[in-house]
This record gives sequence, structure tokens and C-alpha cells, in this order.
Amino acid sequence: MTKIITAENIDEAAKCIADGGTVVFPTETVYGLGADALDDDAVLKIFTAKGRPADNPLIVHIAHRDDVYKLASEVSEDAKKLMDKFFPGPLTLIMKKSDIVGGKVTAGLDTVAIRMPSNPIANELIDKSGCFIAAPSANLSGSPSPTVARHVIDDMDGRVDYIIDGGSSQVGLESTVVDVSGDVPEILRPGKITYEDLKEVVPNILINKGILAETDKPKSPGMKYKHYAPKADVTVVMGSKVNVRKYIESHIADGVGVLTYKGGSYGDAFVINAGDNMEEYANGLFYNLRLFDENGVHTVYAEFSDEGGIGLAVKNRLFKSAGHKTVDADNLI
Ligand code: TXA
Ligand code: MG
Repeated sequence: MTKIITAENIDEAAKCIADGGTVVFPTETVYGLGADALDDDAVLKIFTAKGRPADNPLIVHIAHRDDVYKLASEVSEDAKKLMDKFFPGPLTLIMKKSDIVGGKVTAGLDTVAIRMPSNPIANELIDKSGCFIAAPSANLSGSPSPTVARHVIDDMDGRVDYIIDGGSSQVGLESTVVDVSGDVPEILRPGKITYEDLKEVVPNILINKGILAETDKPKSPGMKYKHYAPKADVTVVMGSKVNVRKYIESHIADGVGVLTYKGGSYGDAFVINAGDNMEEYANGLFYNLRLFDENGVHTVYAEFSDEGGIGLAVKNRLFKSAGHKTVDADNLI
């Protein structure tokens, strides 16, 4: 039985974590499915609840910056600069792991992913549990990450001990993941903290090529799995406004939905506006993908335009949800 609570009853949920149980909690990015990161049996429950492949490591969440030094054996100067600027917040840092970190949470790697969330409920839960909390996004493996408690319940009811309803996630996409375990920092997953933001702090930072390409030799194990996909079949359509519209209009049929960018309608088709800028697109993306499924849409055409900034994170998630099916409406053969 899953107990659905609010932050008022957080003490129960913190005790559950300390006792080796599982708790879904809100963070500023997406909801996380948490358990004691240093308890291998508890960590195993996360993999089982999500149906997650055992070779995909989890992020360890902390409530205090200094806890990094307990989990990591080496903290580089770049890592310190990034922590000073962006902890707490939507940034995950990969570092060489210390001996207290077990093999389940890191999927056997010698590195550990560490994040200090800024959401006060997340922080209180970590603090009160007295544990470091391992937490992937709280969706069934492969589905879009949940950004509201209702979507958590759809996926996780009966699979976890507690769900804490903390309203809507502010960011809507998962944290930016940066590997600082080597000589040069590298972005493994883009997010709200953008390449441009990071470059101001560590100018030599690189973007891993796997972010936008399909690859079977990724640096981050999570990159190789089909991710974020709704049940509907998604195609991303790019190009000039006029050509994008022409292409999508010619594909409208029963059960076809459109994710528009900056508004507009397509006759009787089920349309969701992704927003007027990339921040809004990011914030609503996973929510909207689930909304298409809930409305019986089997095929989605998504308008998209390459704008950099947080647009890179949107592109990464959207392309994955489409299985990299994209159309350049300006260059149709
Ligand atoms: O915003 C977030 O990061 C959310 C919230 C709950 O904090 N969590 C999240 O976790 O998105 P998850 O498990 O869905 O994604 C973690 C990503 C995966 O792609 C995983 O492969 C990668 O981080 N990762 C974890 N540990 C790693 C490591 N040691 N080396 C490389 N990649 C790692
Ligand atoms: Mg995930």
C-alpha cells in the first residue's frame, strides 16, 4: 500500500527512508523516487519499482554542501567552483566515489553522481531521514518524468511506500549533469543550468556528443536507453513557421495531436501550446506529453526551433521522446 501525504507529515516519510523504505518526493526539477543511498537493499527497491536496468546509476541527493566530501574521494577545483555557484539547485556533479558509496547506487562505476536540491521539502526529507537519498526520476523506466503528484500516482501507486505531494515542479526537466571526475568538465545531460551558465564558471567545459545523437557507447549509462517517451508516436518538425505549418497540416487526421510553439491552431486537431519561450517549453514538456496520452492522441507532431540556452535541454528530451524522428520542413524531398 502506498501512502499519499503532504509535507505536513514529512516525519513519517523521513522515518520510512531511515528504515530502508521508498518515498517519492518533489524536487525543483521533477519528482524523485528516494531511498537510503548507502543501503543496497533499499537501493534495489528503487530499481524494482521503476523497472530500471541495473546498469543505470542513480543520483545521490544531499542536504548540506559539505556532504560532498563524504561521498567523493576527489573534489576538483572546478567541482568546488560549480558547487559554490549552483548548489543547491538543478545541477548534478559526477565525481570519483568514496569507499562508503556502494556498488548498487553507482551501478558498479567508480564515480558517484551528487546533487543538492533547492526544493525545501526535498531538503527537509534528506535532513530528517539522516541519510543521503538516492533518487532517479519517479516514473516507470522509459516514461516521461513526473512533474505533478498525479503523474507519480499513475506510475508508482502500489510500488512505493510513500508519495509526498508537493505541487508542480518549477523546472519541469531533470538536472544538468556535469562530469567533473576527469581533467576537463563535460556536460552529460543538459538542463536548466545551461552550457552558457556553466561556461562562465568553468570556461573549458565541453558538451558530450551523445547529448543530441543516438549512441550505443555513452559516457552516462542513462543516455543509451529510450527515454521520456509517451505512448503516442512523436515526430519533431523544424523549419520556417510557414513550412512547419504546411507539413503538419497535411498530416492532420483522427488521433493526431500537435504540440505548437508560440500558439496557433490546426483545425479540429487536439493542440497543446508548448509555450512562448523555451523556459515554458521545458517546464511543460513532460506534462504535455502525458496529456496527449490522456486524451487518446496516438500521433504527435511537435513544433520546435533551435534556440540554445535551455532549448538544448528541451531538444535533448524532445528528440529522445521522438526516438530521434525529426523532419526539416524547409528541405522536404
Ligand atoms: O533532476 C534530477 O536529476 C532528478 C531529480 C529526482 O533529482 N533525478 C534524475 O535521475 O533525473 P535519473 O536517474 O532519472 O537520471 C540520472 C542520470 C542518468 O542518465 C544516469 O545514467 C546518470 O545520471 N548518472 C548517474 N550516475 C552517474 C555516473 N556515476 N556517471 C555517469 N552518469 C551517471
Ligand atoms: Mg529519469
